[in-house]
Amino acid sequence: MKDMVNVALPKGRLGEKVYGMFAAAGFECPSILEPNRKLIFENEAAGVRYFWVKPSDVAIYVERGSADVGVAGKDILLEYAPEVYELLDLNIGKCRMAVAAKKTFRDNPERTLRVATKFARIAREYYAGLGRDIDIIHLNGSIEIAPILGLSDVIVDIVETGKTLLENDLEPLETIVPISARLIANKASFKFKGEQIEAIQEGLKRQVAIS
Ligand code: PRP
Repeated sequence: MKDMVNVALPKGRLGEKVYGMFAAAGFECPSILEPNRKLIFENEAAGVRYFWVKPSDVAIYVERGSADVGVAGKDILLEYAPEVYELLDLNIGKCRMAVAAKKTFRDNPERTLRVATKFARIAREYYAGLGRDIDIIHLNGSIEIAPILGLSDVIVDIVETGKTLLENDLEPLETIVPISARLIANKASFKFKGEQIEAIQEGLKRQVAIS
């Protein structure tokens, strides 16, 4: 019998969509749909075992090999640069990493720009590319509040519909990079469970093509 493939799915709305794609690709696990709080599900016949994990932790499970494959946002892959293979853009969970500020904000290039963000590396690389001096203020959530309270001049954050910015009187200034969900694989697993992982990759590729 072939080894099971361990799959880390991002808990939440995106994860349900992702599971739907895996199921449609032939890797169903009906018990996952039962209303309970279990975090691990498997379907031996299909050769898959699913774990629900925090979206920002998927890459850690995959990098360390606790999961063979997983689905993570490009934002997390850019920010933490885990040692994994990025196999496929699933074309869901689409949003963008953007700079935003209060509508009244006017940049003064003579001064160090204060940037509030969860994504310090992405922000640092973006402004380094512009040759702009910045001071990173690392926050863990509700980033939009920083410029309102005068904690920062701008924010670097995820914008999906733009509603959060709008409702807090902020406006997007620049898009840094488009974001979407990616299928990633552990490097050793890709070697040792290559056939099974490629079957998942091909199945999902077909789902992306018909979506
Ligand atoms: C993200 C992001 C924004 C919001 C953008 O937050 O940080 O706050 O979504 O979405 P919108 O453009 O559709 O309004 P998330 O819900 O991931 O939680 P967070 O506050 O922990 O960042």
